[in-house]
Amino acid sequence: VISGLAEEKTKFARAGDIAMKRLALLIAFAILAGVVALTARAPRHAAAQQAASIYLTEIPSGYRDWRLISVAHEEGDFHSFAAVLGNDVAIEAYRGGKLPFPDGTIIAALHYRHVASEENNKAFGRDQSFVPSSPTNIQFMVKDSKKYAATGGWGFGHFQDGKPSTDEAMMKTCFACHQQVKARDLVFTRYAP
Ligand code: HEC
Repeated sequence: VISGLAEEKTKFARAGDIAMKRLALLIAFAILAGVVALTARAPRHAAAQQAASIYLTEIPSGYRDWRLISVAHEEGDFHSFAAVLGNDVAIEAYRGGKLPFPDGTIIAALHYRHVASEENNKAFGRDQSFVPSSPTNIQFMVKDSKKYAATGGWGFGHFQDGKPSTDEAMMKTCFACHQQVKARDLVFTRYAP
C-alpha cells in the first residue's frame, strides 16, 4: 500500500511537472510571437513615416502676405497665371544672391485660371485684357536640408481647395523636374526686379 501510494504521488508530481512545462512552453511561444510581431511592424511603421514626411501636408501659414518674387503665365494644358511669392528668408536670399537657399526658405506658387476680361476689354475698346479667375492650386517648396535631404533639401507641397495632394505619382514628378535647375538650387523662378 505504501509503495502504491508513493507511485501515485510520483505520478501526480509528474503530471504537475508536465503541466508546468506546457505552461512555460506556451509563455515562451507567446513572447516569441510578440517579438516577431513587433519587429515585423517596426520597419513598416518607419517606412510609412518616411513616406508621409517627404511632402507637405499643411499649408504654410501667412503665405498670402508674402512678397512677390515674380509672375508666370503658362499655356498648353494649364492656361494659367502664377504669382510666385516668398517668405522673408526667401526674399533676403534672392536679393542677396544667396545660393543654396538657407533652411527656412519657403516659396509659394499661386496658380489661377487665365481668362479674358470683358469688363477691361470694354474700357480699352479692344480685346487685350486677361486676368486670373478661380484658383487652381497652390504649390510650395520648403527648404529644410535635414528633413528633406532625399529631395535636394526641398519639401514639395501641392494643395487644391486647401487639401494636400495624396497622389504619390504626381508628387514624385516635382523633384524629378525641378532637378533640371540644380545649378539654382532646384528653383526655376528668377527674381523680377
Ligand atoms: C515638368 C516640370 C515641372 C514639374 C513636374 C513641376 N514643376 Fe514646379 N515649376 C516648373 C517650372 C518650369 C517653374 C517655373 C515657373 C513656371 O513657369 O510656372 C516651376 C515653379 C515652381 C515653383 C516656384 C519656385 C520655382 O522653382 O520656380 C514651385 C513652388 C513649384 N514649381 C512647385 C512644384 C511642385 C510642388 C510640384 C509637384 C507637384 C512641381 N512644382 C512640379 C516645372 C515643374
